[in-house]
Amino acid sequence: MLHFSTLENIDIREITDTFNEAFSDYSIPLQLNYEQMQTKLRAEDYAPEYSVGAFYQNKLVCFILHCYREEKGIKRVYNGGTGVIPSQRGQHITLGMYDYILPQLKEARINQVILEVLENNVPAKKSYEKVGFKTTRRLRSYFGQIQEHSTTNDIQVESLNNIDWDLLESFWSIQPSWQNASQSIRNILDKLLVYALYRKKELLGYTIYNPASKRIHQIAVSTKSRHQGIAKALINHIRQHNNPNVNIINVDEQDTSTLNFFEQQGWENKINLLEMKLDL
Ligand SMILES: CC(C)(COP(=O)(O)OP(=O)(O)OC[C@H]1O[C@@H](n2cnc3c(N)ncnc32)[C@H](O)[C@@H]1OP(=O)(O)O)[C@@H](O)C(=O)NCCC(=O)NCCS
Repeated sequence: MLHFSTLENIDIREITDTFNEAFSDYSIPLQLNYEQMQTKLRAEDYAPEYSVGAFYQNKLVCFILHCYREEKGIKRVYNGGTGVIPSQRGQHITLGMYDYILPQLKEARINQVILEVLENNVPAKKSYEKVGFKTTRRLRSYFGQIQEHSTTNDIQVESLNNIDWDLLESFWSIQPSWQNASQSIRNILDKLLVYALYRKKELLGYTIYNPASKRIHQIAVSTKSRHQGIAKALINHIRQHNNPNVNIINVDEQDTSTLNFFEQQGWENKINLLEMKLDL
C-alpha cells in the first residue's frame, strides 16, 4: 500500500535520489547531484508544504515538487518536477498525488497551478490533462555554439552589479517561464553572471548567464536599439569570458524576434515544452 504526505519532513537527499531514479529513463539526460538539486529548489522557491510524495514501505517512490510565489495578488504554485520511479508506473499515481494535494492547495487559497511538460511526453501530458490542466503556450529550447562576432568600438559590455529590474524588464516582449523569471534569478544571483551593454553610457541590452549550466536565462535589447548587433555583442562577451557552448530553455514561441536570432546563430531547436495551467 502506498501512503501520501506532503514533503516538509523529507530530506533533500532522499528527494534527489528518488528524482534521479524517476528520471533515469527520461527522453533527455536529467540527473542532478545534491548541490544542483538544492540550487534548483532555491531558485524556484520550493514549498515542501505544498509538495506531495507517495511512499512505499517508508521509501519515497513518487513526488510532485511544488514551488510557490504570490505576484500581483495571485497565489501561484509551480510544479518543478513530477516523477514516479519505473517500478511504480502504470497505476495512475500522478492522479493520486493530485487528488491528495489539490484540496490542500484550495484550502490555502492558491489561485492557480502551472507546469511545463515536454510536448512528446505522453504519460505526463495525459495525466495532467486528466487533472484538468490546459495548455497556455508552447516554449522552445535551443542548444548551440556561439560564433565569434566582430563588434564596434562605440559599445562596452560590463558586468552589472546594481540591477534596475524595472529597466531590464522594460526591454521584454514576452514573460519568461518560471525558471527564467526575475525572482528565480534573484534567488541564485550569487551563481549567475549579469552583463550589460552600453553605448554612450546608456544601457541598451543585457543578458543573464549561468556558467555552471551554460544556460542563458535572459537576454533582451531595448526596443529602440534592436537590429544593431547588440544581442550578438552580448553573446560574444559570453563566448570570450566563459564557454562557446550555450543552451537556452523555455522561450515563448510567440517571441519570433528572439527565436529568429537564435536560429541565425545556427542553434538547434531540440526540444519543445508546453506550459499548462490549472485554475483552482
Ligand atoms: C510521467 C509519469 C510521472 C507518469 O507516471 P504514472 O502516474 O505512473 O502514469 P501512468 O503510467 O499511470 O500513465 C498515465 C497515462 O499515460 C498512458 N501511458 C503511459 N505510458 C505510455 C506510453 N509510452 N505511450 C502512450 N501512453 C502511455 C497510460 O496508459 C495512462 O493513460 P490512461 O490514463 O488513459 O490509462 C512517469 O511516467 C514518470 O515519472 N516519467 C519520468 C519523469 C517524467 O516524465 N516526469 C514528468 C515531467 S513533466
